[in-house]
Amino acid sequence: MGEVYVGPDRIGAVPAPTDDLRSLSVPYLDLARAAAEGKEVLEAALLACVRRGRYVLGDEVAAFEREWAAFCGAPFAVSCASGTDAITLALLGLGVGIGDEVLTVSMTCAPTAVGIQRAGATPVFVDVEADRLTMDPALLESALTARTKAIVPVHLYGRMADMERILAFAKANGLLLVEDCAQAHGAALSGRPAGSFGDAAAWSFYPTKNLGALGDGGAVTTARLEVAKKIRKLRLYGYATRNDADVAGFNSRLDEIQAAGLRVNLGRLAAGNARRRAIAARYDAALAAVLRTPPPARAGEIPAHHLYVVRVDDRDAFRGRLEAAGVGTDVHYPRAVHEQPAFAALPRGPLPETERAMREVVSLPLYPQLTDGEAERVIEAVRASARR
Ligand SMILES: Cc1ncc(COP(=O)(O)O)c(C=O)c1O
Repeated sequence: MGEVYVGPDRIGAVPAPTDDLRSLSVPYLDLARAAAEGKEVLEAALLACVRRGRYVLGDEVAAFEREWAAFCGAPFAVSCASGTDAITLALLGLGVGIGDEVLTVSMTCAPTAVGIQRAGATPVFVDVEADRLTMDPALLESALTARTKAIVPVHLYGRMADMERILAFAKANGLLLVEDCAQAHGAALSGRPAGSFGDAAAWSFYPTKNLGALGDGGAVTTARLEVAKKIRKLRLYGYATRNDADVAGFNSRLDEIQAAGLRVNLGRLAAGNARRRAIAARYDAALAAVLRTPPPARAGEIPAHHLYVVRVDDRDAFRGRLEAAGVGTDVHYPRAVHEQPAFAALPRGPLPETERAMREVVSLPLYPQLTDGEAERVIEAVRASARR
């Protein structure tokens, strides 16, 4: 994503992990640690791909699609080149396109809107619930027009949107539902996995995600066979048969090497999420008294704990104090989507909760390889920084 994506895998000089609290610097994220874990298995899987000489949409991809569908409890998974493409393909696969409006949130990153626009549809932004920061179902009614065709809620930071109410609204109004699950690998609500509420779900395997590839990757999951078939066609130029397209499609394929890496990392996803949950619980217990920690889980919600996001009034100063204490932070995201020039003209209702939250959110280090000592160091630094 080049220079515009100053995302969470932008890391500086990273010290070796240590539990020595006196000298510890804690990087916001360190993907090299994940790669080093069981690296023999990963390297062998990648080397096997190279030796087989099959590079795109082969057996590894097919196996990963089966395994990812099984993990998600979805009948079908169709891989593609990115999470952004997955949103576009899911919408097009469902028949959403030019002239249609899609209700979504601005409390997300640009690709949610980009994915909708690439399908030819117009994103319409609704505000989020005050604390939970996911789509506010109470606001959907006022955003509805004769052109509304679909809803794309985002399970932001790994926290489930209020899917029961959003799904009820979609059904009552004959709207399609595509879940943006880019941050929700392994999340669930009321016993149903993220992605299983809508007509389709879009997943990103960008390396920083709970399930990350070694580069870009994405997938659509769906229970609808005809949708899966259409997306398979769309990701490969629109080919109905070999070298013969009956619809204008894309080149949005997953590489064998990426699929092989994803299969290895999928085997670690549950343990990684459990570790994320433990660190988040530790932060909750230690920090709730000193600043605004994430809201408690909804009844019946299992969050994916993709990011641990606190809210402060003096974000730049707060981050500066943490940086001085050796603790890396990030911001997801510095500007709401509708505040960015490319999306400023899109239709929207009032977005006061989105705009407030985007001024206040700060992400603390949260990844499976973070040591207990580092988590304590973060807590110590936040306590000292939040008190001033
Ligand atoms: C909420 C959300 N939607 C969509 C995307 C797009 O995914 P990708 O970067 O794989 O295109 C991302 C990740 O960057 C995301 O966090």
